[in-house]
Amino acid sequence: MSTRNTIILAAGKGTRMKSKLYKVLHQVCGLPMVEHVLTEVEKTGMDKIVTVVGFGADDVRNTLGDRSEYVLQDKQLGTGHAVLQTEKLLGNTTGTTLVISGDTPLFTAETLQNLFDYHDAKKAVATVLTSIAPDPTGYGRIVRNKLGIVEKIVEQKDATEAEQEIDEINTGVYVFDNQALFKALHETTNDNAQGEYYLTDVIEILKGQKATVAAYQMADFDESMGVNDRVALAKANKIMQRRINEKHMRNGVTLINPEDTYIDINVKVGADTIVEPGVLLKGNTVIGEDCFIGAHSEIHDSILHDRVKVTSSFIEGSEMADDSNIGPMSHLRPESQIGKKVHLGNFVEVKKSHIGDGTKVGHLTYVGNAELGKNINVGCGVVFVNYDGAHKSTTTVGDDAFIGSNSNLIAPLEVADHSFIAAGSTITDKIAKYDMAIARARQTNKPNYYQKLPYRGEE
Ligand code: UD1
Ligand code: CA
Repeated sequence: MSTRNTIILAAGKGTRMKSKLYKVLHQVCGLPMVEHVLTEVEKTGMDKIVTVVGFGADDVRNTLGDRSEYVLQDKQLGTGHAVLQTEKLLGNTTGTTLVISGDTPLFTAETLQNLFDYHDAKKAVATVLTSIAPDPTGYGRIVRNKLGIVEKIVEQKDATEAEQEIDEINTGVYVFDNQALFKALHETTNDNAQGEYYLTDVIEILKGQKATVAAYQMADFDESMGVNDRVALAKANKIMQRRINEKHMRNGVTLINPEDTYIDINVKVGADTIVEPGVLLKGNTVIGEDCFIGAHSEIHDSILHDRVKVTSSFIEGSEMADDSNIGPMSHLRPESQIGKKVHLGNFVEVKKSHIGDGTKVGHLTYVGNAELGKNINVGCGVVFVNYDGAHKSTTTVGDDAFIGSNSNLIAPLEVADHSFIAAGSTITDKIAKYDMAIARARQTNKPNYYQKLPYRGEE
């Protein structure tokens, strides 16, 4: 049966990254580079995807999971050697095989599909994807004869001075007739400057067999960028960020300064939402319509429904319902559920708590491990004391309760609905419905004591 296969090369250590993290796992806009590659490849409808792993094999496997099959390349003897390791999985199939590197995160499915179409139209045995580089240093160069027909690919380190002048580069993406690929790979040698088995040599070998070799030149060099060091990683992030931001703007999101707005690839944002500069929207965050995300806010893996307003705040692993607001300078820690029309003001920290619709927590308050009902007023400087040094305990507060300023609610504790806590109270005992609790030292006034004080202001 004729199949469509992809081989993703991801076994290299990435020495030039100077990192403990394996190169292909470095992230671009919230996803490891190799996952970007896999996601785009999947969109082109592959029968089989095989990833070649080596350095960091387990980490790469854990990252991609069962979206790919894997082969192990024990020693990194070159890109040709890497592809050859897949022979036990792919050697017996017929059809076409795409080869792509795990360190080229910007390729789109559309370009890969164009490459397949070109390969088919040319009835080629191999088609290499090329582009024109403003600075080709470091890339393999496409050597064409006088008629413009591809002869071979020469690596930077093996190139003559004349060849180094060539600005058409090998993007490291190819489509091969599967059988011809493995046959040619057996003929590669490591007789070159790096002592490696180069995949690129397959082109010259196939030419020697009079096979049809084509080159498909893509228009946008940026898309073909390979990331070998941190400078290129930053560039790749920038290019992908621009792409993501333009998509959101086209979908009706206002980005006040897209150059300074950082949105991960899987984030969703609804129409008519406004995002101010310096904002980070990370992970699997989902933001609804007509929201306002103010300058320098950071939101990770959270869900914000419609008309939510965030002013300079930090939100992680939480959910905010319609018409709620937070900030400035507040923090939602994981597992916080904020109800509709809730107001969280400045310097408020909420952790693993549920806050019911219409409740207000205006200022300087910590809410941890708490269940708050609806329309509660939480005064300024309230602390939900949830930790005794060993255990976390829960506080529940019923609807329409009033919690006076500067109160401590020591968990475990139940405060009934329609109850009232006087300001400055330290509450340790359950409060019943309609009760007022007051737990503070009584005030004593000493008449005329002022005149005995060493300090006296002028009258
Ligand atoms: C490679 C190409 C070069 C091309 C460039 C495009 C070769 C010989 N050179 O060079 O022509 O312009 O990509 O970005 O193919 N890998 C393995 N096993 C190995 C060696 C590498 O799996 O033994 C993997 C790496 O993890 C990486 C990919 O193959 O994902 C490319 O290897 P890299 O060393 O980055 O090749 P380049 O020098 O960039
Ligand atoms: Ca590379």
